[in-house]
Amino acid sequence: RRRVPEPLSAKYIGSFAYLTVKDRLPTILTKAVDTVHRHKKTFFEKYGQEGVEAEKRAIGLMSKLRNELQTDKAVIPLTDEFPDAAQWNTYIERQQAALGPEEFPSWFKSSWLFMECYMYRRIHESILLNPPICDFDVFSEAKIQSFFSSQDAILIVCTYLQELQRKIENFEESQLKDEFMLLMQVALWGNRCDLSISGGQDNSQKNNPLASLESLKSFILVDDSERVWNLLVNNWKNKTSQTTPIRVDIVLDNSGFELVTDLVLAYFLLSTQLADEIHFHGKSMPWFVSDTTRRDLDWTLKNLQASNHASLSMCGNMWEQNLHKGVWVYHDHLFWTLPHEFSDMSQDAPDLYSELHKSNLIFFKGDLNYRKLTGDRKWSHTISFDTALQGFHPAPLCSLRTLKADIQVGLKPEQAEQLTLSDPQWLVSGNYAIIQFSDPNPK
Ligand code: F6P
Ligand code: MG
Repeated sequence: RRRVPEPLSAKYIGSFAYLTVKDRLPTILTKAVDTVHRHKKTFFEKYGQEGVEAEKRAIGLMSKLRNELQTDKAVIPLTDEFPDAAQWNTYIERQQAALGPEEFPSWFKSSWLFMECYMYRRIHESILLNPPICDFDVFSEAKIQSFFSSQDAILIVCTYLQELQRKIENFEESQLKDEFMLLMQVALWGNRCDLSISGGQDNSQKNNPLASLESLKSFILVDDSERVWNLLVNNWKNKTSQTTPIRVDIVLDNSGFELVTDLVLAYFLLSTQLADEIHFHGKSMPWFVSDTTRRDLDWTLKNLQASNHASLSMCGNMWEQNLHKGVWVYHDHLFWTLPHEFSDMSQDAPDLYSELHKSNLIFFKGDLNYRKLTGDRKWSHTISFDTALQGFHPAPLCSLRTLKADIQVGLKPEQAEQLTLSDPQWLVSGNYAIIQFSDPNPK
């Protein structure tokens, strides 16, 4: 492997990684403890004395974890029996082996990506080790609240989709393109609503998501949307009854408003036949506060189906049917919640890599996925996206991400310097975004 830059880490004092480990992660842990505590009566006591004891132990484990973090203790192996525990422990051993006997991996010395993923995995362990409460999602309440606070915006996008459905049959190619570009931007900016950057605080979509698109265009720092469209439209034009179905994959990020925008985009792709099947990839445990699990997806669909608003219930019903018919498929491979960069996937999760290889286009939603695509490394801003992917080319792929970590590649010379002059927080404020595309075999 060629020499690559060091990963971002809290060891760089003053960096965003440092501030995250020092301030944001302990805040998230405190909130998790508080949530468990507040559910004592409504959830844990259902299980009698056993439930009360389990609640106490889970809180004890999370408080211990917060103490380990704040005092920069060594990373310890996992002790639960979840199927990824062995892989995690091998990863931890590898980190230890790379350091030699004098040092040990720890919160303020190891890579940020590793430590941040490890924190969420240890939260999960605290719950797993305490049956009968082992299916409690400490972030569920925040996700549900965030969904309800975005209710008006959700209604706007679902109504838009419903009206689009009525007109779509008579659309010219240029109209299809305009609508695709619009819905891709809605899904892009939907990524602002994540509950990790906000430390678990409300970060829902309050404004009309369609009205702001035009004024947001100048905040898209890399815009490869034409290339994405060309790929989709060429596949569509070359389609014959013999060709294999066109498959689009969406590696999901946050539940709530962002998830709805992803489902809207997916539905549009399917109903226009720009795609014949959509494969979603979610998380198999609560992750980075707001990331989507199967339970979040099911909850979202049920909630929409039960709505009094016709467009919401229609979306909920149509989307449920798509899953039922198998034209939408949900996957939750454990690799997505490992600390590995995606360039490790072909070796460490070859089954997932070959699954993604079947895709015609993969959307990677959000900041964490971008960090994993690029290895969360200290790349220069002008290095190409292809280089930063370090050989991860399962299929043509597109990152839809608002910037919330101090990493960004593929910029023009001077672009980063100018941005720093006009807005020193441009990398982490979530106010800027990218639509960044890579095709391993361009036609
Ligand atoms: O807390 C760190 C972080 O990875 C940030 O970089 C980012 O704000 C967030 O968590 C995850 O963002 P997203 O939901 O877009 O992946
Ligand atoms: Mg997220």
